[in-house]
Amino acid sequence: MQAVSRTYVTTPIYYVNAEPHLGHAYTTIIGDAITRWSRLNGNPTKFLTGTDEHGLKIQQAAEAAGVTPQAFTDKIAPKFAAAWDKLNIANDDFIRTTERRHKDAVAELLQRCYEAGDIELDTFAGKYCVACEEYYSDDELVSVSGVVGEGELCPIHQRPVEYFEEENYFFRLSRFQDLLLDWYAKHPNAMTPEHRGNEALGLIRSGLRDFSISRTSLEWGIPLPWDPKHVTYVWFDALTNYLAAVGFGSSGADAAEYTDWWPPTHLIGKDIVRQHCVYWPAMLMSAGVELPKRWAIGGWLLVGGEKISKTSGNVVNPLDLIDDVGLDGFRYYVLAETPYGSDGDFTYEGLVGRYNSDLANNLGNLAARIATVVTKKCGGVGTAPDPDSPLAPAAAIAFTNSAACWDEIQPSRALEATWGLIRATNSHLEQNEPWKAEPGPDVDRVMGDALEALRIVAILCSPAIPETAQAVWERIGMTGRVEEQRLPGAVAWGVYPAGNEVTKGGPLFPRIKL
Ligand code: ME8
Ligand code: MG
Repeated sequence: MQAVSRTYVTTPIYYVNAEPHLGHAYTTIIGDAITRWSRLNGNPTKFLTGTDEHGLKIQQAAEAAGVTPQAFTDKIAPKFAAAWDKLNIANDDFIRTTERRHKDAVAELLQRCYEAGDIELDTFAGKYCVACEEYYSDDELVSVSGVVGEGELCPIHQRPVEYFEEENYFFRLSRFQDLLLDWYAKHPNAMTPEHRGNEALGLIRSGLRDFSISRTSLEWGIPLPWDPKHVTYVWFDALTNYLAAVGFGSSGADAAEYTDWWPPTHLIGKDIVRQHCVYWPAMLMSAGVELPKRWAIGGWLLVGGEKISKTSGNVVNPLDLIDDVGLDGFRYYVLAETPYGSDGDFTYEGLVGRYNSDLANNLGNLAARIATVVTKKCGGVGTAPDPDSPLAPAAAIAFTNSAACWDEIQPSRALEATWGLIRATNSHLEQNEPWKAEPGPDVDRVMGDALEALRIVAILCSPAIPETAQAVWERIGMTGRVEEQRLPGAVAWGVYPAGNEVTKGGPLFPRIKL
């Protein structure tokens, strides 16, 4: 059994230049499922998300909308909070970078790096992508046909970069190359999956340039504490949210929170590896703050082969998809369809196909079959499982394998392992055909086994599809909340009691015709 460990899970804080889209929902749902899995294991877990509200991109979006940046962000940030509510996201906090607590934390982190001698005044001349809020050198820019090193376009957004020259403060990132490589060598599993971590190591090995951490030509941001003509670079600002939310830079009770929760597990997309896996640990080293426990780096969900983004104009609103496949149908798709770390292609056919095969035909069908047979042959009363049931080892394997995959932050494989138990239980029923048999001890035993397997399935799938898990839990007559179960005890074979009232209810996942 694992020791209880405090877990602090974060998502990126999303830019409020646009409303939440499927790409944002993707990382947030993964973070939510990881959080729920951690809680199921009895680990005190804090889950943070929020919004990134400063910088040129937001300032320009506000100008285009004809309102002040503050009014603009005040309008969009609640839409993220509301979307996460609708997606049943169990975040404990929602941080906005325009909040006082955040500004205090940024000032504290800046001051520490400045006093460590790692922030110095210099002149910046170079190219900047506003969509990324990132500086690029010529050898990183791409041409219209995508050739690296031969163009004027941002490699992520394929948009022209802007040239500017001004006096800036610089963070001396170049000093941290060996320190970072040493640290990652000592923490070989800190970045996952490995192929994404290797990309970050490649960035570090290829040489680190100092980066500008302030602008004088920008107004919308946090002033540097020692030179308020300068506004903090939005990435230095944004990254600090993870510290701010646990009270870093404040005194009193909030500071105790920092000791409780730090260091974090960061979920990020592959687009922001440089900032999170290179800049951020160097900033923390400079400030004398412990480095994150883990970075879980996701791929992109593509629509028509392109990353979903406001900039590409291929935005899919996750809330529209819920109307079609239900909340859990959507969550399940996000978690099950693509191995975390790889890119996935979003198609409506893929969404409905997953729903029909895994939810309607497998889980939904199993729950309906069990309730129907128990109603007809067992008087609607649940029976006890056989201690020597052939399904007992299948349940143990489903638990062991799904636990290993959740721990590796591979939800798709964790669900595959759980679905192994669903398939084994459906096959067990098909072999025994209790629906054809006379009521009696044979039927009771087969149904007790199936009910017990379904109880275990409800627990194991609860991080992914919490509402469905609870519905299944109640239909098989279990009381309380499925999320209050604790692993591994709760999935031990033989817990399901005889005598529960089993109810049928409507189909959990009615089949959808394309
Ligand atoms: O980068 N597929 O914010 P952002 C998968 N504010 N994930 C996607 C995605 C897609 N098509 N599109 C976005 C920022 N994401 C900064 C972060 S953190 C201190 C500051 C997810 O609104 C993915 O997690 O551009 C990606 O890293 C993040 O949203 C970027 O969101
Ligand atoms: Mg982005």
